[in-house]
Amino acid sequence: MRSLNLSLGDRSYPILIGGGLLGRGDLIFPYLRSPRIALVSNTVVAPLYLDLLAGGLEKVGVGMTPVILPDGEAHKTWESLNLIYDALLAARCDRSTTVVALGGGVIGDLAGFAAATYQRGVPFIQIPTTLLSQVDSSVGGKTGINHPRGKNMIGAFWQPKLVLADTDTLKTLPDRELSAGLAEVIKYGLIGDLPFLAWLESNMAGLLARDGELLAHAIEHSCANKAEVVAADEFETAKEGGRALLNLGHTFGHAIEAGAGYGTWLHGEAVAAGTMMAVELSRRMGWLQSTDADRVRRLMEAAGLPVRGPDLGVARYLELMSHDKKVIAGNLRLVLLKALGEAVTCNDAPQEKIAAAIEHCCRA
Ligand code: NAD
Ligand code: GLY
Repeated sequence: MRSLNLSLGDRSYPILIGGGLLGRGDLIFPYLRSPRIALVSNTVVAPLYLDLLAGGLEKVGVGMTPVILPDGEAHKTWESLNLIYDALLAARCDRSTTVVALGGGVIGDLAGFAAATYQRGVPFIQIPTTLLSQVDSSVGGKTGINHPRGKNMIGAFWQPKLVLADTDTLKTLPDRELSAGLAEVIKYGLIGDLPFLAWLESNMAGLLARDGELLAHAIEHSCANKAEVVAADEFETAKEGGRALLNLGHTFGHAIEAGAGYGTWLHGEAVAAGTMMAVELSRRMGWLQSTDADRVRRLMEAAGLPVRGPDLGVARYLELMSHDKKVIAGNLRLVLLKALGEAVTCNDAPQEKIAAAIEHCCRA
């Protein structure tokens, strides 16, 4: 088992990564306030993994109230959130009940927001089961739901007490979802870790073949990157750089997700195409070379990811991007690349260059 720590003073927590962890109730028990949890999962993940988790918890005397939600990004909504509140209230869960998320980023974001708000906040544990959630969404405390006008528009920062990433769960993950997770892995290389980018180029075939050691290394390295960034700028308030850099490709990507209809494009797929737009804009700003853009495109393609966005029309992209959380006082704050491995926040990219980069990455 690999173990990392996210350092946030008295809210610090461990990130445990490895095979065979789901049935280890003994790893979870020390982080509970009482021997009772509310387990939030969905109709796809629960049949695969709920019994294993419940068995391990039973051995250490922990009981659970299961809350099984419909599957998918289209259900990251108020309606699903209310189903969680209803179940917690019906089971008379109190402030000592820990909410545990078992699933991908959608379940993690929903369950985390429920934990942040139920009775003004109860303890929370993340048990991520997709590559994307193991390398990104389970770490750092961002929780929330979508609004028809924008992605993740309603939410809260609420850190978990523990992240338990069982890499065995990746064996049942569909190929398309594995590739989507790799988009966020590639992100860490692009924003600040050129050696990791090169490692990914050399090991992409093995990662896609689900080599356990390679996946565990990629997850550990990604989580270490993220933990460092979050520890330095938990609430994304740094004037330059900071946690915002983790959103490379996301402003374009969120427009793709909302514009195409939530669930049509996977989050990681939208991030991949959005990253190509950010790369193209960085090239038009005179920062990246064409050879850099080609290198990123080859890596995305090797990971089985799309490198062009849907043709929503530039005006629609810009309209959707204007709702982004990175808009401050009317200014769009984009994450761009000064070089591969060196991301920056940029408030003054010319509108015509943004439009041209979108256009370039949407053409057939
Ligand atoms: P997801 O949660 O929808 O999971 C993808 C699919 O895989 C779902 O159908 C799910 O049921 C299924 N699944 C999950 N685990 C499985 C397994 N082990 N075997 C088989 N099927 C499995 O999607 P995701 O890619 O995990 O997460 C995307 C979400 O995460 C988006 O809503 C995105 O906004 C959010 N996100 C949040 C943060 C954050 O910091 N909070 C960061 C990145 C992304
Ligand atoms: N996924 C971006 C963040 O956690 O800040």
